[in-house]
Amino acid sequence: MATERKDMYLPEREFVEQANIQSRAEYERMWKQSIEDPETFWGYIAKDFHWFKPWVKVYRGEPEIGDNEWFIGGKTNISYNCLDAQIEKGRGDKVALLFQGEPEADCKRFTYKELLKHVCRFANVLKKNGVKKGDRIALYLPMIWQLPVVMLACARIGAVHTVVFGGFSAEALADRMLACGAKKLVTTNGYWRGGKKINAKANVDRACMLCASAGLTIDDVFVVDRMVDFDVPYIVYRDTSLSKELMLEEISDFCPAEKMDAEDPLFIMYTSGSTGKPKGTLHTTAGYMVYTYTTFKYIFDYKEEDVFFCTADIGWITGHSYIVYGPLLNGATTVLYESVPTYPEPDRFWHIIDKFKVTTFYTAPTVIRSLMNRDIKWVEKHDLSSLRLLGSVGEPINPEAWQWYYHYVGHDHCPIVDTWWQTEAGGILISAIPGAMGLKPGSAALPFFGVKPVILRARNSGDEPAEEAEVNEKGELCLASNWPGIMRTLYGEPERHISGYYTQQPGYFFSGDGAYKDEDGYFWITGRIDDIVNISGHRLGTAEVEKVLCSHPGVVEAAVVGYPHPVKGEDLYVYVVTSAEWEGNDALRDELKNLVRQEIGPIAIPGKIQFVQEMPKNRSGKIVRRILRKIASGVGNEIDASMLNILAEPGIVKIIDKERIV
Ligand code: WT7
Repeated sequence: MATERKDMYLPEREFVEQANIQSRAEYERMWKQSIEDPETFWGYIAKDFHWFKPWVKVYRGEPEIGDNEWFIGGKTNISYNCLDAQIEKGRGDKVALLFQGEPEADCKRFTYKELLKHVCRFANVLKKNGVKKGDRIALYLPMIWQLPVVMLACARIGAVHTVVFGGFSAEALADRMLACGAKKLVTTNGYWRGGKKINAKANVDRACMLCASAGLTIDDVFVVDRMVDFDVPYIVYRDTSLSKELMLEEISDFCPAEKMDAEDPLFIMYTSGSTGKPKGTLHTTAGYMVYTYTTFKYIFDYKEEDVFFCTADIGWITGHSYIVYGPLLNGATTVLYESVPTYPEPDRFWHIIDKFKVTTFYTAPTVIRSLMNRDIKWVEKHDLSSLRLLGSVGEPINPEAWQWYYHYVGHDHCPIVDTWWQTEAGGILISAIPGAMGLKPGSAALPFFGVKPVILRARNSGDEPAEEAEVNEKGELCLASNWPGIMRTLYGEPERHISGYYTQQPGYFFSGDGAYKDEDGYFWITGRIDDIVNISGHRLGTAEVEKVLCSHPGVVEAAVVGYPHPVKGEDLYVYVVTSAEWEGNDALRDELKNLVRQEIGPIAIPGKIQFVQEMPKNRSGKIVRRILRKIASGVGNEIDASMLNILAEPGIVKIIDKERIV
């Protein structure tokens, strides 16, 4: 690469001159106000929205225990603000959504007016079939244009959507429906993935069966007919073809938006926790709306002519906030692509950027790493000159990937915003504001408005007070403020909400990440400090995988840890103690991998499985994963006497390390 590497990349003058925030001083002034007087700060921004009834008070809460309410007493509707309000502002004929299917010819544009019409019609079909305000409804849909339409339709009538990532298995889907009591579901008869037709409906049928045997009857399955001539069986009394319903004369193009209370639930997003059971983060209406709108506007330096392409799957929070809600609330044009970056060739993203003249591109380090290994001709073939800003999310971005992205995709002039946040946050928490500050590759830069991160030292006992780390000292990344987008609770598990986030460092929200802050106030995220592994930007609890492995008759004990992977960032390394009748061989490895695929989904299939005689345990019988992590990462030599001393049987560590799978 020709460019010289710098410690700090300043935005070019032309970028700064057009930017929404143009200096660090301006940013500091706004940030200071957002922290010192959040009610004035957010109250002013919230005036940009349509309210059926204005709020009485901007904020009330006891943030130390995660009790937060925003825009109290206000009535609004996020679907109305994404659509009707944009049309009222004159954007009716502007393109809201650009859909690119896997087949190149399958490309659709929807103006704001057209999108509103589709949303209203879908909403009316749901209503006609008994979906009501407050109902939980699962969306097991791939990246097709109907997914945002159905989300907005739910939001319009007050139904609470829970989108389940298409890569999850029937079992995982059933778990989530059971956890939130979703009796209705929207799916599709199939979709395209790498040239193959995928049958999503089969998983749904099985999930409904599993729900029924656990006592939850699924009343309605709505099927989007994505595929023509792809026959999947319909269960007559339960399944409804959406395209047939939409053809009915009685389905009107108009559906009034429900007047939602500011704190009415908007959606539940399941994410992995440190125990086996996924956590249902609950996001509510107005705070989420104001926060995704504001982060999108300033972090992506949004301009009216922008075309925004976020490559995340809507099955994760990134897609919710930055494919659907954030862009539409700003009246932007957002791109939705059905499939993988490598189909039919490894230049599909670059092709889409060129085709739609994308200005802002938001992707994950794992995607960059997998594409930078290909022949550079795949990038150079395309005109990427429409790009003016790049983004990264999901895991720390390594310097090689950063440099490649900056040079080959951004042509050395597009700032890269490295955005740190998590499902619980609703929107981005730490990121550069691209016109206001320089970039340091590998650092997520500075906190967004309303966000006050602190680095705290690990505490050993319950009575120790929280203690801030020094500059450049690694510690636990916690949040000392609260912002409108924060989740309000874990659905159905209020105690877990408090114990999982507000007890590790009393008085603070505990993120589960390690980080340090440098002398310029820039934050550097070093990765999870709990039992969560980040595989290709997808978060997975090791306990979840261990539970599945232990359900196999051949497994007595299983320990799962993460290890560095060149493309995925991290992957799973599994240690298994087999029962006497089973032999630890490749056949058992395959069985275990299949079991994980079936119970959780392909994303959780472990990269390496090592059979061991015994686990390294401390004297109270707890597996010492710290040691297993070192071995899996190939740094067994770093295991010193102080680590071995706590073990009941230190001798086994050498054997495990010797038999490590390389
Ligand atoms: C975890 C959250 C919300 C983004 C999608 C994933 C890691 C996320 C970054 C970043 C370093 C990052 C953290 C975080 N993470 N973005 N820019 N730099 N790490 O959401 O599934 O809730 O995962 O992803 O470890 O805690 P999620």
